Amino acid sequence: MTESGKNLSKAKELLEQNELVAIPTETVYGLAANAFNLDAIAKVFKTKNRPSFDPLIVHTGSMDQITDLVETIPEKAHLLASKLWPGPLTLLLEKKEVIPDLATSGMKRVAVRIPNQPLTRELLESLDFPLVAPSANPFGYISPTTPKHVADQLQGKISYILDGGPCEVGIESTIVGFEENKTIIYRPGGIPIEDIQKIVGETQFAQQNDENPDSPGMLKSHYAPLTPLKTGHLGRLMAKYHKEKIGVISFDEPTIGISEDKQVVLAPDSDMSTAAKNLFAALRELDNKTDVELILISAVPNYGLGIAINDRIRRAASKD
Ligand code: TXA
Ligand code: MG
Repeated sequence: MTESGKNLSKAKELLEQNELVAIPTETVYGLAANAFNLDAIAKVFKTKNRPSFDPLIVHTGSMDQITDLVETIPEKAHLLASKLWPGPLTLLLEKKEVIPDLATSGMKRVAVRIPNQPLTRELLESLDFPLVAPSANPFGYISPTTPKHVADQLQGKISYILDGGPCEVGIESTIVGFEENKTIIYRPGGIPIEDIQKIVGETQFAQQNDENPDSPGMLKSHYAPLTPLKTGHLGRLMAKYHKEKIGVISFDEPTIGISEDKQVVLAPDSDMSTAAKNLFAALRELDNKTDVELILISAVPNYGLGIAINDRIRRAASKD
């Protein structure tokens, strides 16, 4: 049994012994390990069953710590960092040698972020090293947003779960990089793209290429439940699949004709941040129901956080 609790000194001690500890962040729970230790990093890949070509995000407690990890911080990166950190933003910056190649899968850039979660920030500030922390789920499955989600899948495989309650944002960080002064979005996430544009002007999405993904989080099939999932217009999907054992996830209106225990309304208040917070828990809830054999989910309005939510829904639905 993996213990879970709020014991910061226990978490710190275990990380110093190069063990794995699940940590709360405002986005999703991370599977944390000492970013300077190769054995600790290797354990993360193994425990998540994550391919070695998919690099990890390095988390620190302050901007001072980041300057020790990266060669330069471009002007635009600086602007974004000063306005949005701590928060759900990850920056791709040229790494210094202290970051092991294993953490970046051999890439020259390292993904860094300062998360905005009080317990985890205190932990990071107390440590002499930064933490690699991918989402604390088996590779390809839905990211965890509660300590229970972590325990359900990684019970017995990790040393401790630091309990910070449910995640406030509920969807992973927005990943941003810079090429020839262009601002590139590698993964839409918890900071809406519009907020980034207000700070640095125009942005563009990274070209997607499954053969050689710059950001493997952009792989088409990801964040997926085990139960098949289809997305589209709910009315049409229900007409087509009404004979099957369906569960339904809608944006802000209950779905008529589906029993209450087999449907989740993501945001009864029509607020996109409520939908983001509830999305992964909703997918897990229906995935765990034995009498649901097909999940139908509608897209949400495609602006603000909705862009990241729709991205996750598309990837969850893709079976390629
Ligand atoms: O919100 C988050 O970002 C959460 C919390 C725990 O911080 N972490 C998270 O990590 O989502 P993970 O490993 O599940 O997703 C990180 C994504 C990966 O898909 C990876 O491809 C991309 O970040 N990434 C990491 N380092 C990279 C690098 N050096 N170059 C390009 N992409 C990178
Ligand atoms: Mg992940």
